[in-house]
Amino acid sequence: MEKFNIAIDGPAGAGKSTIARLVASALGFVYIDTGAMYRAVTWKIMDKGLQPDQTGDMIALTKQMDIQLTPGEAGQNVFVDGYDVTGLIRTAEVTGYVSFVSSIAEIRQVLTRKQKEMAASMGVVMDGRDIGSHVLPDAEVKVFLTASVLVRAERRLKEIEHTQPGITLEQLMHDIATRDRMDEQRDASPLVQAPDAILVDTTSMTIPEVVDRILELCASRVGGGK
Ligand code: DC
Repeated sequence: MEKFNIAIDGPAGAGKSTIARLVASALGFVYIDTGAMYRAVTWKIMDKGLQPDQTGDMIALTKQMDIQLTPGEAGQNVFVDGYDVTGLIRTAEVTGYVSFVSSIAEIRQVLTRKQKEMAASMGVVMDGRDIGSHVLPDAEVKVFLTASVLVRAERRLKEIEHTQPGITLEQLMHDIATRDRMDEQRDASPLVQAPDAILVDTTSMTIPEVVDRILELCASRVGGGK
């Protein structure tokens, strides 16, 4: 099968990573989690103790950083300058700060350049917020995945209730709505559905149903998938 690129965008908790990983594995494509790249930069900035007003230093640090993504058992393993940060980038502290870091236009430019390079040889499924609109505007298949805030919070609660026992559904709904607002309202490449992206509302769909829908889209667009 000829290789092509798939862009999957959408708000936090819409199921992008799970779906993108399964679609990539069904097609034998490479999965790239761009949210993990923004999280990796955020982790490094926090590890260095940079303060919110030190954006110049944040940008310089991002330019020097080496970020590697490798396939892992439960998703993607992430290495920063050779150091495994896979677990460290998922803490509440990083999650709370990543929207700020990802609103810095120069940091987006550095990561966008890396992401374009990663997709240059085709055959990638890339998920994020601005992939169809900005990073891979020529992707053959573009999907915008969404779901209600309640359902997204319920899914997130299931994922983290063992590691963060005190967390409530209300808190998660509030956090998700806040992050949506920051991602949608920032000036630099805000979260937006590309005009040619297909909207898939996963609120009442199962994971296999969503994967099938995307593989059908691949088949209809480029003759790949089903
Ligand atoms: O998908 P995620 O929750 O791991 O993403 C973490 C943050 O990174 C999220 O708040 C938005 C930002 N992000 C972005 O601005 N652009 C992307 N392409 C991917 C993620």
